[in-house]
Amino acid sequence: MPFRPRYTGLIERYRDRLPIHDDTRIISLGEGNTPLIRLNNIPRLIGKEVDIYVKYEGLNPTGSFKDRGMTMAVTKAVEAGSRAIICASTGNTSAAAAAYAARAGITAFVLIPEGKIAMGKLAQAMMHGSVVLQIRGNFDAGMQLVKDVADQAPVTIVNSINPFRLQGQKTAAFEIVEELGRAPDYHCLPVGNAGNITAHWIGYCEYSAASGDHVTGACAFCNGHCAYAGGAIVGNRPKMIGYQAAGSAPFMRGAMVDNPETVATAIRIGHPQSWNQAWKVKDESGGWFDECTDAEILAAQKLLAEKEGVFCEPASATSLAGALRDVKTGKIPEGSSIVCTLTGHGLKDPDTAIAQSGGNVHTIDATLDAVRRAILDGMA
Ligand code: F0G
Repeated sequence: MPFRPRYTGLIERYRDRLPIHDDTRIISLGEGNTPLIRLNNIPRLIGKEVDIYVKYEGLNPTGSFKDRGMTMAVTKAVEAGSRAIICASTGNTSAAAAAYAARAGITAFVLIPEGKIAMGKLAQAMMHGSVVLQIRGNFDAGMQLVKDVADQAPVTIVNSINPFRLQGQKTAAFEIVEELGRAPDYHCLPVGNAGNITAHWIGYCEYSAASGDHVTGACAFCNGHCAYAGGAIVGNRPKMIGYQAAGSAPFMRGAMVDNPETVATAIRIGHPQSWNQAWKVKDESGGWFDECTDAEILAAQKLLAEKEGVFCEPASATSLAGALRDVKTGKIPEGSSIVCTLTGHGLKDPDTAIAQSGGNVHTIDATLDAVRRAILDGMA
C-alpha cells in the first residue's frame, strides 16, 4: 500500500495560501477535507438534468463550516498572545470557538440568544468549558455587545468580522475546484451574516487567478495535494447565490431587519456583518439573493435526509431549497453544475428534526407477530 500522509487540517494543507508563518503554532482539530456528494435521486425526482453536489460541511469536527474559520482565528489569536476569545453566536460559532479554545488552552466567552439556539450547539459550548453568556436579546444585539466590550477587555473577537475567519473559510472553495477540476456554474449558500458567501468568493477568485499555474504544471497552489496538479484546472468562477430565510432576509428587503424570525435559528440574523462585501460578491459573480419560507426549508431538509441519506440542519437546507426552486423554474438552466453548501450537521438540532418526523416512529408490542406485521405494512 502506498503511504498517504495523515491529513492534519486545512492550515497545513493550504499553508502557502494562508497568512501563516513557518513557526506558527497551529491550533487544529483536522477540519476541512469534507465530502462533496453528488445527488443521485433528487435530480431524477424533479425531472431535471442538473449536476447537484452538496458540500457536507456538517462533517467538520464540531459539525459545521465554522471550524474552517475558527482554526485560523484561534491560531492567529494565540500567535498574537491572546488568552481569551469572544463571540456572539446563533450556536455554531460558539461551538467551534469553545472547542478550539479548549484545544489551545485559552478561555472562550460566548454570547447566545436565550432560547433561540439548537440544543446540540448549546451542549457543545457547555461541554467544551466555554463561559456561556445567555443574553435576553437576539444575535444582532449580542454582536453589538461583543464589538463594544472588545474595546474595553483583553479578548479577541472570533466572529467573521475577524478577517482570519474568512481566510480559513475560503479553503472550502479550493477543495471544490480541486475535486471538480473547475468551479461549478452556480454555488448556493445559506446567508446570515454573509461571511461564508464572501469567503467562498475570495477562494474562487484566488483559485481562478492562479489557474495558469495548474495549466503549466507549476502548481504550488494546493501544496501537492491537487489531483489535477500539472493538468488543466479551468479558471472559471461560479455565480454566487445567497438564500435567506423569509423572516430574516435583509438582503431581499434591501435594509436591515430588526426582529428576524425563522425556524432556521442559525440564520436568524437581521443585521448582517458582511453587508457590503456580500452585495459585491453578488454583483461581481453575476449571482443573486433570494428567500425561502420556513416550510420550504424544512421540506428540503427532509427531502435530502430521506432521498439521499444526508442529514443537515435547517439553515443548511436553505441552500438546497432555493437551488431546487431555481432549477424547477429554469432560472438555473439544465446542464448546469451546482454546489450547495450544507453548513451544519442535522444532529445539531434534534428537536426540529424530531418535531417534523414524529410520524415515523411506531410503538408496537414486543412480539414476533407485531414485528412481522410492521414489516409487511412498511413494505406495502
Ligand atoms: N448555516 C449555518 C448552519 C450557520 O451556523 C450560519 C451562521 C450560516 C449558515 C450563515 O453563515 O453568517 O457566514 O452567512 N452562523 C453564525 C453562528 C451566525 O453564530 O453560528 P454566514
